[in-house]
Amino acid sequence: MQPITLTRFLIEQQRREDSACPSELRLLIETVARACKTITHAISKGALGDVLGSLGSENVQGEVQKKLDVIANEILLDANEWGGHLAAMASEEMETIHRIPNRYPKGEYLLLFDPIDGSSNIDVDLSVGTIFSVLRAPESASGREVTEEDFLQPGRDQVAAGYAIYGPQTLLVLTLGAGVYEFTLDREMGAWRMTDGPLKIPSGNCEVAVNMARRAQWSPAVRRYIDDRVGCEAGPLAGKYNMRWTASMVADIHRILKRGGVFLYPADHREAGKARLRLLYEANPMSFLIEQAGGRAIDGTHRILDTQPTGLHQRTGVALGAPDEIEALLRESDLIRTGPASIGASCGSPAPSSVRR
Ligand code: F6P
Ligand code: MN
Repeated sequence: MQPITLTRFLIEQQRREDSACPSELRLLIETVARACKTITHAISKGALGDVLGSLGSENVQGEVQKKLDVIANEILLDANEWGGHLAAMASEEMETIHRIPNRYPKGEYLLLFDPIDGSSNIDVDLSVGTIFSVLRAPESASGREVTEEDFLQPGRDQVAAGYAIYGPQTLLVLTLGAGVYEFTLDREMGAWRMTDGPLKIPSGNCEVAVNMARRAQWSPAVRRYIDDRVGCEAGPLAGKYNMRWTASMVADIHRILKRGGVFLYPADHREAGKARLRLLYEANPMSFLIEQAGGRAIDGTHRILDTQPTGLHQRTGVALGAPDEIEALLRESDLIRTGPASIGASCGSPAPSSVRR
């Protein structure tokens, strides 16, 4: 028997007594998934479809826009405008929010997305993805136009989140707040079929995803955590860890969800607010997925999903992964604050307290 389709999964979720998936949300997820099918089609044409390369423009964050960033953004906007389940959308590629035009019915949800995550990988045929997050418009927004402030909700209030990954296979990884499920695009049938889930991050996999070139910007705690694990010749963790970095958050997070380990993109400790990843459409949806799969997600010291956003394109430091790794990182922060005492280590036996730092 073929694995069940996304459509069937969503309908079964909707039927559950404790359902967190009303029909509007089901339609919304199906629409996003359909848009991701269109995006994977556009990506796979590559140079033949004239979709590679840059546009010569910059997005609101001052990053060079790839053709596919803009194409994917348009695909997501077009697919989601008319269905009647959304009040507004926000995207990495748009300075401000996109309200549903008056010619269409409006719904109660807000959709945020990063249309093509890891877009520097597009031109060299490596995995990229689409990340999305769904919020409910605040009750106070009923009867008036949705504003940017309505999107500034902590990540714990997300009703759904997920990503599509355009790699050797095209996958959709989704949470509705009750576990994380993986669907593979069956290209012959045009359907998404469940191929894994509920996902649980395996513990004890000594793998770190981090851009080592940014070491100078890390806090002392992050530096100690990494230095103990990557490239060290002595100490209890020497030789135990491996490093992986694809420069596409979707690909790195997917590996961690399936195999374990930790992903870090720390904030710049020398400059308040300077970080790489965006809270609302990168860190929050990924944190929701990671927590739903039994992991932990912090900005360095605090739970990301509890952050009260102050801006649509706000950035944050991130450390996402297996609980044992995040706890080890938090212990480093505590040690920096309280001075050296006992030093814990994950992935094996705790380090002896005589270890030299
Ligand atoms: O969206 C930002 C992003 O492309 C992530 O997908 C990725 O993890 C990171 O930036 C790559 O950063 P860097 O260019 O420092 O390797
Ligand atoms: Mn991104």
